Amino acid sequence: QSYQDLYRPQIHFSPKKSWMNDPNGMVYYKDIYHLFFQYYPESTVWGPMHWGHATSKDMVHWQEQPIALYPDSLGYIFSGSAVADVNNTSGFGKNGKAPLVAIYTNHDPVGEKAQRNNFQTQSIAYSIDEGKSWTKYEHNPVLANPGITDFRDPKVRWYEAGKKWIMTLATKDRITFFSSPNLKEWTKESSFGQDRGAHGGVWECPDLFPLSYEGRTIWVLLVSINPGAPNGGSGTQYFTGTFDGHSFMPDDNQLKWIDYGRDDYAGVTWSNTGNRIVFLGWMSNWMYGQAVPTQAWRSANTIPRQLSLKKVNGSYYLASDPVKELNTLVANSKTVNAVDGKNYNYPGKLNGPFRLSFNVDNLVDHNIILSNSNGEKLIIGYEKSSNQFFIDRSKSGETNFEQSFGNKQIAPRIATSAKSSITLYIDVSSVELFADNGLTVMTSIMFPSKPYDSFLIESGAKMTIQNLSVDELKSIWK
Ligand code: FRU
Repeated sequence: QSYQDLYRPQIHFSPKKSWMNDPNGMVYYKDIYHLFFQYYPESTVWGPMHWGHATSKDMVHWQEQPIALYPDSLGYIFSGSAVADVNNTSGFGKNGKAPLVAIYTNHDPVGEKAQRNNFQTQSIAYSIDEGKSWTKYEHNPVLANPGITDFRDPKVRWYEAGKKWIMTLATKDRITFFSSPNLKEWTKESSFGQDRGAHGGVWECPDLFPLSYEGRTIWVLLVSINPGAPNGGSGTQYFTGTFDGHSFMPDDNQLKWIDYGRDDYAGVTWSNTGNRIVFLGWMSNWMYGQAVPTQAWRSANTIPRQLSLKKVNGSYYLASDPVKELNTLVANSKTVNAVDGKNYNYPGKLNGPFRLSFNVDNLVDHNIILSNSNGEKLIIGYEKSSNQFFIDRSKSGETNFEQSFGNKQIAPRIATSAKSSITLYIDVSSVELFADNGLTVMTSIMFPSKPYDSFLIESGAKMTIQNLSVDELKSIWK
């Protein structure tokens, strides 16, 4: 296989072949970023899940590795996390070598078929060769199921103040926290969320991490939900608040989404990266993920995004910033100092993926139209009367594999200033919008018959654009 096939992302990870969904086990260890992922090697649709594996030195260039975890007598290997057990609390380390420990859900298809309610349990596996080979713990599962059909996707982190591991688990309509001294024995601490947040579907793939804001520690709880996302199908909401080692207390009642586009799901953050918190999601949606028109493989991940907090109208919001490592992809840059007018038509043709960014002095209605010479176009824009950003992919290329795929996607503007900033990452089959320095994010896939190579910015009123830059990006596969 090559990475040249139709629709193949050039600045995003996708598996060489077969089906991928959620990112799993993201851990940084000894200068390597590990990315595991829900993987079914036998087909391009979902099936008995494995953990695929890829590694990177910069979260941008990836090398696919052999499959890390195969289904076993306890079931398929569903989503989960991995930690560097540097103090060897688990005792899996050997000869002074710390283990990496993966904590994942075993999903037993036999129990599911028999309509039992306890077919999802949590298990662990360890590696003492830096993630190359994995051994499953002989006494799995480490957390039995108390009779909850959806009991999965453990995300584990070290809680230093209490010197213990905390597992954040999706348990149907709420999150349940467990703690452990050694990753093998788990005690229930509390649960959160049955009366909070969005509940249009089951809760999945949570994450819990602290961020600092002006010297204070704020805890962020990510909760993916399917269906029930703002633009239909799968999406990821989050809560901000406090965590004391036992329970999570939200600090407001706002409904917040890390990404309003339709194609960012089950995203979580890398463990063991210190104060730098980096997020990445599965760039698809369960509404049509298995029907998208790619051939050898299905699905890619989003670009990695460094998270921080901003305060708007008294509430904390996540801001997503594409990681600075992406700058190494810039092949050439064109800058236009200022554009003052109703339209800006980019002269010339673009070659390959690109990044478009600019500042706006007066945010007025506008459309950014990406197009190719086959007449296909994607429109990204802002509408002042509703104060919303939007993405319209109805004419973007192939759309008819699913009836809702072409629907217009909208996102609220969260920032309140008149000045705004827009950054777009445009790959062969996806666009990622970061508005207002990542306060409003929209990720959307699309399938044009050939990559977009032109763009036009048009606004109804006079729009003042500063620092417009167009960066052509190199493929990560070269
Ligand atoms: C989310 C999810 C997880 C589950 C996995 C199975 O997309 O449904 O809850 O562990 O996918 O592949």
